[in-house]
Amino acid sequence: MALLSRIRGKWLKFACSRTARSRGGAVAGLNKVSLSVPIVADGKGQVILGARSSFGCRDAPICGNGHIRLQARTATARIQIGEQCAFSNNVTLCALNSIVMGNACLIGEMVTIMDADHHELSPRDRWTGSGRIAPVVIGDNVWIGSRVIILAGVTIGANSVIGAGAVVTKSIPPDTVAAGNPARPIRSLV
Ligand SMILES: CC(C)(COP(=O)(O)OP(=O)(O)OC[C@H]1O[C@@H](n2cnc3c(N)ncnc32)[C@H](O)[C@@H]1OP(=O)(O)O)[C@@H](O)C(=O)NCCC(=O)NCCS
Repeated sequence: MALLSRIRGKWLKFACSRTARSRGGAVAGLNKVSLSVPIVADGKGQVILGARSSFGCRDAPICGNGHIRLQARTATARIQIGEQCAFSNNVTLCALNSIVMGNACLIGEMVTIMDADHHELSPRDRWTGSGRIAPVVIGDNVWIGSRVIILAGVTIGANSVIGAGAVVTKSIPPDTVAAGNPARPIRSLV
């Protein structure tokens, strides 16, 4: 069993870097992480994975093959994941500029993080523009609950917790539990 999952992990890494290369992008650090679901890195930009991070969780809810999409969509876009982070299944990160995550973060299943609105508010330009684009920063040791959505321009301070199902529209300070839609601080952890 262990041998089979090692072989599967190697295959998933090979498939990940092949997809990234075919789109003109790159994934760094694949050799130092563990994968139990596919990572789809289908952007033209750079994805950097920190050592000892894991992607996919056998015990968590899963949809389809559970793939995790790390799309640094444009040539200058960057997604950076710190060391020892643990991602559950079906997580999506989409960067037009940058999404940077610190070390030891926990990411629940079906979380979405995006650094752009992807469409303009103005009805006239909605189909042509990218809308607001602003970097997302997640501090060290942040826990993001299941099905959270984090929007452009948000910074989440170190050690904070985002409750399941939250939509995070504004930055959250360090050492804070935030929840709801829109996410608001509900408790301090210090
Ligand atoms: C946020 C969480 C950690 C609880 O934190 P807590 O500080 O113990 O919060 P409490 O249970 O004391 O609730 C405090 C208030 O926030 C509300 N609240 C708690 N979690 C909430 C959530 N996810 N969304 C909206 N409101 C929430 C409670 O209803 C309560 O409201 P009230 O004061 O009006 O009664 C937990 O609710 C949660 O969301 N865990 C994530 C679980 C998860 O996704 N795990 C799998 C992925 S790794």
